[in-house]
Parts: sequence; structure tokens; C-alpha cells
Amino acid sequence: MTRLGETLAAYQARDPAARSKLEIFLLYPGVHATIYHRIAHFLYCHHLKFLARFVSQWSRFWTGIEIHPGAKIGRRFVIDHGMGIVIGETAEVGDDCLIYHGVTLGGTGKDQGKRHPTLGNNVMVSAGAKVLGPFKVGDNSRIASNAVVLSEIPPDATAVGVPARVVRIAGEKVNFASSVDQIHITDPLQKELQAITSRLEFVEQLLEEQSHGSHD
Ligand SMILES: CC(C)(COP(=O)(O)OP(=O)(O)OC[C@H]1O[C@@H](n2cnc3c(N)ncnc32)[C@H](O)[C@@H]1OP(=O)(O)O)[C@@H](O)C(=O)NCCC(=O)NCCS
Repeated sequence: MTRLGETLAAYQARDPAARSKLEIFLLYPGVHATIYHRIAHFLYCHHLKFLARFVSQWSRFWTGIEIHPGAKIGRRFVIDHGMGIVIGETAEVGDDCLIYHGVTLGGTGKDQGKRHPTLGNNVMVSAGAKVLGPFKVGDNSRIASNAVVLSEIPPDATAVGVPARVVRIAGEKVNFASSVDQIHITDPLQKELQAITSRLEFVEQLLEEQSHGSHD
């Protein structure tokens, strides 16, 4: 009951359109999918895999949200709108995460065992984004709408595009080009000339020493 209460509160905090907890409990498909998932996950962990799958498919039929019974979902999970959401068997979702409609936490088909992503705490995955593969999305990160994330995302990052790239860390622009020193660059030609000059000097010094030796 505590878990349900805090989940309803999370919906109220995150969805400006949400009015009362009763309305959220009765009408929000994300809440229903999470409750069904708790039951399905319990059955899955007690080796009642068929029943677990039955519950998750029933939930999918009613909510349009497919969470595999094996997926591990943290506390205060908010699914806004729902519909077209797929969360794979080995996916893990931390606490206080928010996902929108059209999100996939899936696999690429190339991995075995752990195939699906792990979301840290307080991660937001925007509408239509796909996060594919067994890597971690760091705490407090935001995945932009319609991004396709194929590799690890550090904490506090904003990732956008296809394939997704990190464009902000803690709100600051990530611009690798501007951090490269384009003024104090060593000229490779000059370096080579310096090396030849010092070898020449060494040879000249040797010759001079030899010629002094032959005169003595
Ligand atoms: C990514 C997002 C969360 C914003 O995060 P943010 O950290 O505040 O990032 P910013 O808005 O500062 O944008 C960072 C850069 O990414 C770009 N960007 C933002 N969203 C993008 C997207 N979906 N696709 C491609 N680029 C995007 C911005 O134009 C900006 O580019 P710049 O570096 O050239 O200025 C937000 O844009 C987003 O996608 N929200 C979707 C929420 C959603 O699903 N709503 C559905 C409600 S029904």
C-alpha cells in the first residue's frame, strides 16, 4: 500500500494534468500496468512463468504497455500516457524513473543473457525513444524523444538523435571541438626538422672530435 501511495504521489508530481490520487488510481494505464507487473514479477520469481506471462499479456491487452514479468522495476515508476511501451525481460529500471508512450527498453538481438538496458535512478526516457542493449543509462539522465540509444549514457546527461549522442552533461553543452586547443599545436614538420638538426649537430661534433684526435 505504501508503494502504491508513493507511486500515485509521483504521478501527481510529474503530470501537471493529474488531479486527484483516486482519478490516477482508477484511470491511469501506467498505474494499472505497474500493479499488474508486481503480480507478474512475483509469479515469475516463484517459477510460475506461464501464469506470470498470462498476467503480463492481460495487462498489455488493457493498457498497451508490455512489461516482461522478469523485468525489475524500481519505486515510484511513472509511465505517462502508456501505449506502445515494451520493457524486456532483463531490463532494470531504478527508482523515480519516468517514461512516455512509444518507449522500448529492448535488445538488439546480438546479446545473450542480459540483453536489455539498465536505467539508473531518476532517468527520463521521452516519447518514442528506443534504448537497445545491455548497458547502463546513468542516474538523472534524459533521453530525448525519438532517440535511439545504443551505448552507455553517463549520469546527468541529455542524449539526443539516432544513434543517440550526449549533448549536455548537467545542463552544460558538451562540445568536444571547442575543448581542443587549436592554437598551441606542435607542427610535425618543425618537430622533424628539429630532430634532423640535432642529429646533424651530433654528427658534426663527432667529426670534429675525430679530426682533433687525428691531429694530436
Ligand atoms: C531532451 C529533452 C528532455 C530536453 O532536455 P534538456 O537537457 O533540457 O536539453 P535541451 O532542451 O537544452 O536540448 C539540448 C539540445 O538537444 C536538442 N534536442 C532536444 N530534444 C531533441 C530531440 N528530441 N531530438 C533531437 N534533438 C533534440 C536541442 O535542440 C538542443 O540542441 P543544441 O545543443 O543544438 O542547442 C526534451 O527536448 C525532450 O525530448 N522532451 C520530450 C519529453 C516528451 O517525451 N514529452 C512527451 C509529452 S506527451
